[in-house]
Amino acid sequence: MSKTNTLSHLAIIMDGNGRWAENKGLPRREGHKEGAKIVRQITTWCAHNSICYLTLYAFSTENWKRPKTEIEFLMQLLKKYLENERQTYLENGIKFRAIGDITMFNSPLRDMILKLEEDSSKGKNLTQILALNYGGRDEIARACIKAFKSYSAKDLENIDKTEVQRLITNSLDTAGIPDVDLLIRTGGEMRISNFLLWQSSYAELAFTPTFWPDFSTHELENIILNFKNKLRRFGGL
Ligand code: FPP
Repeated sequence: MSKTNTLSHLAIIMDGNGRWAENKGLPRREGHKEGAKIVRQITTWCAHNSICYLTLYAFSTENWKRPKTEIEFLMQLLKKYLENERQTYLENGIKFRAIGDITMFNSPLRDMILKLEEDSSKGKNLTQILALNYGGRDEIARACIKAFKSYSAKDLENIDKTEVQRLITNSLDTAGIPDVDLLIRTGGEMRISNFLLWQSSYAELAFTPTFWPDFSTHELENIILNFKNKLRRFGGL
């Protein structure tokens, strides 16, 4: 009897906004604007198609290296998105969560993030997680500091490795959220770019050349269909 995989946690690296715009002779920011619309479509689709967690890479710890004008535009876009999509979250039973080090954001933006987390906390269909000023290594480093702060050198000498893994897992920004089942990257590059490093250890990976603003629920459905029929062995036979 064949068994299909369950997709509980889907993660997406939304790449290709800039190239989408450049190919059309438009400024890069038009690609980000169009990308934000696709975020809404994909999120709503996930909320009604039995996905429990959707994590989206919206701003990485490395994105601060971009020109100041582009960073400012992305911050404004995020603010607008959080304001405009509030109804989408509430009407579709979507719980919003942020991961990453948001202490780097200005306080009005931080307050908006915290307020939407609180207001949408009863959402039962889907938890949408936006990775904001997020980096996998940064998250693991912060988790280790949190987990072992109270440990003495003597405690650490005898600590069991499985226990260390448990402590780190429970100290990550994603504590309580299951590991990633399927990680998709749009835009044609085949790399992970410091996204959910710990949580994607056994994730199935899917790469598509489609630029994020052209990504669709139809393409997502095809990727998911392919994922469901894959044999996942988790290191066993
Ligand atoms: C990569 O495209 C994408 C980002 C840096 C951020 C993702 C942002 C969005 C999808 C829009 C805003 C999202 C929200 C939630 C408001 P790129 O600029 O690196 O594309 P390129 O590789 O073609 O230059």
